[in-house]
Amino acid sequence: MPKIAVLTSGGDAPGMNACVRAVVRSGIKQGCEMFVVYEGFKGLVEGRIEPVDRNFVSDTINRGGTILRSARLPEFKEEAIQKMAIKQLESYGIDSLIVIGGDGTYRGAKDLAAKGIHTIGIPASIDNDVCSTQECIGFDTCQNTICDCVDKIRDTSASHARCTFIEVMGNKCGDLALYSGLAEGVEIVISNDHPYTEEDVVNKLKSLKGGKKKHALVIVSEKIFPNIFDFAKKVTEKTGIECRAEVLGHLQRGGSPTAHDRIIATRFGVEAVQAILDGDSSVALGLFGGEIKRVPFEEAFIMERDIHKDLLHILKLVNR
Ligand code: F6P
Repeated sequence: MPKIAVLTSGGDAPGMNACVRAVVRSGIKQGCEMFVVYEGFKGLVEGRIEPVDRNFVSDTINRGGTILRSARLPEFKEEAIQKMAIKQLESYGIDSLIVIGGDGTYRGAKDLAAKGIHTIGIPASIDNDVCSTQECIGFDTCQNTICDCVDKIRDTSASHARCTFIEVMGNKCGDLALYSGLAEGVEIVISNDHPYTEEDVVNKLKSLKGGKKKHALVIVSEKIFPNIFDFAKKVTEKTGIECRAEVLGHLQRGGSPTAHDRIIATRFGVEAVQAILDGDSSVALGLFGGEIKRVPFEEAFIMERDIHKDLLHILKLVNR
């Protein structure tokens, strides 16, 4: 039976623990020896590997963050570093590795697969920026966290007749902005998939002036404007509307996973172990129309990201 290790890598995402739990428990149930690696590829290279039993993951399904901790290790592309990782795995007799993370994590897993380790990737990222799946673990929880925050900001924004710019995460991906913008019915959504210039924003806000609604909410993806506070100041000067800015930051990555994230995480974890038992390697798991598919890493890296044209159209029809 395979000896399987699991690690989490890249930015943490709520639901990672539920996924680790499913990997460990379903592996043990089917006769595999299970191991965990702490701190992603960095911990792998440094040999932070531990055998685990089913109790290791007790009471973790509801916990945010990752009990295995996470790290980013850009040097993992180097051949010599990868060889160190292989040595560590070999010293425990581990032949298979399940990685939970995003595209960067998959690249490391693909390189290890080329060196003889069976690897399977599971998508977890609050940004939902992995092309080989329609949904990543953590995205649903993060949208809900953003909605909780925007609901609160709405109260004060309305009370003071202000326009509030709310910067959300997403890296270069506009999904968090689009989904939370739709869920909150905000006046403007700004992202790479739905661009707005400063002039567009000023004109739009001016056009809302004098209407019944006295305040406005604008959701902006991170990395669009160099400084959202300066941007809000400029728009205040140009529109005469008092604008404020809020950066939600890392609070978006924390919190207990939603039931939806716990369930997809559990499904992904079980499927990853099954993929190893089936003899698969160098594949990413993806959720498509509610079904889990296995996508070879090679294909995963060249897939085009879905920018949700259908939802962008709905946004235009329903929001202002
Ligand atoms: O996990 C993805 C992400 O949260 C991005 O949205 C954000 O740009 C980045 O990670 C922040 O990374 P770090 O926590 O390493 O600063």
